[in-house]
Amino acid sequence: MQQVKGVIARGKGLPVELTTITIPDPGPGEAVVQVQACGVCHTDLHYQQGGINDDFPFLLGHEAAGIVEAVGPGVTEVAPGDFVILNWRAVCGNCRACLRGEPWYCFATHNATQKMTLEDGTELSPALGIGAFAEKTLVAAGQCTKVDPSARPAAVGLLGCGVMAGIGAAINTGNVTRGKSVAVIGCGGVGVAAIVGSALAGASPIIAVDIDPNKLETAKRLGATHTVDSSSTDPVEAIQALTGGFGADVVIEAVGRPETWKQAFYARDLAGTVVLVGVPTPDMQLPDIPLIDVFGRGGALKSSWYGDCLPSRDFPMLVDLYQQGRLDLDAFVTEEIKLDGIEAAFDRMHGGNVLRSVVVL
Ligand code: APR
Ligand code: ZN
Ligand code: ZN
Repeated sequence: MQQVKGVIARGKGLPVELTTITIPDPGPGEAVVQVQACGVCHTDLHYQQGGINDDFPFLLGHEAAGIVEAVGPGVTEVAPGDFVILNWRAVCGNCRACLRGEPWYCFATHNATQKMTLEDGTELSPALGIGAFAEKTLVAAGQCTKVDPSARPAAVGLLGCGVMAGIGAAINTGNVTRGKSVAVIGCGGVGVAAIVGSALAGASPIIAVDIDPNKLETAKRLGATHTVDSSSTDPVEAIQALTGGFGADVVIEAVGRPETWKQAFYARDLAGTVVLVGVPTPDMQLPDIPLIDVFGRGGALKSSWYGDCLPSRDFPMLVDLYQQGRLDLDAFVTEEIKLDGIEAAFDRMHGGNVLRSVVVL
């Protein structure tokens, strides 16, 4: 076992704390990873605010890249020295999704069996089974996805959560391909990643919708062909006008609210696809839509979990595109911060211009 510094949320709404944590030596199927970079995601803030569950204290951070330091007995997929992106979809291989050949839906993903603790022995709950706002963390070996070791950790670590969710919402869930028209409602980190994914796939037009002009500017810089400020313009009419009067083939909702999902529903062409990647809160209801409209428009209404990604397939492929200059992950890194800067980064999150603050160790 060893002791390192990590950032915890001790109780609901309390400021996060940089403290000493204890990491067990890796047991069977586990790995200890020396964290090099970890992005600050909304989900970390939701954990701190008690919005996920009450299993405090949490070890926050889950969008990370690093170097495998040690592996436990029986681990063959990674070895000490490997450069990896951490994922929260370590597929089990045995659940009903895995058995029918759809491991990107795996219903029984793996995390480390042993617990990291505070110095007094209190067990920590790692965010999304990762806990990477720390110098080192203990994960299941399957949570480590090997990628090109010459890539910049702060950029490719973002594929571990938000950027993968957005890109995957477009290319995996939405099946966006060359020539399809796409609209993305909500242009934060996830929505912009959906725009980047759509551009990568050759979609056209790519219409960005947001109520914040700063976000629309970023969206345009990263691949949107048109922008719609829905604080002043009806987004459904605007999207129809930009698609020959019909609506987009794929509309991606990256806000997580009933009213924006309703806009996505009506901004879609016949037989088109709506992808919900924004995360609603438990109190939200499906918007009031006549059932005949659901039938009459056909197509698909889908949700995207973590971009329906398969880390072993998607992470190395996207890192290679990044290394070749075809996927600008650096654009998502708004600022590099230290482990003691997370509370301030939470405050800046809704400020407008931050796509991602990334802790670099
Ligand atoms: N219409 C259009 N855009 C909106 C609206 C609205 N009514 N309300 C908010 N937005 C925009 C915001 O201006 C912001 O640009 O949605 C964007 C949300 O972005 P972020 O807050 O940065 O969130 P992001 O990290 O992109 O995640 C999006 O997915 O992971 C979840 O919890 C996360 O639900 C959130 C969503
Ligand atoms: Zn499974
Ligand atoms: Zn996240």
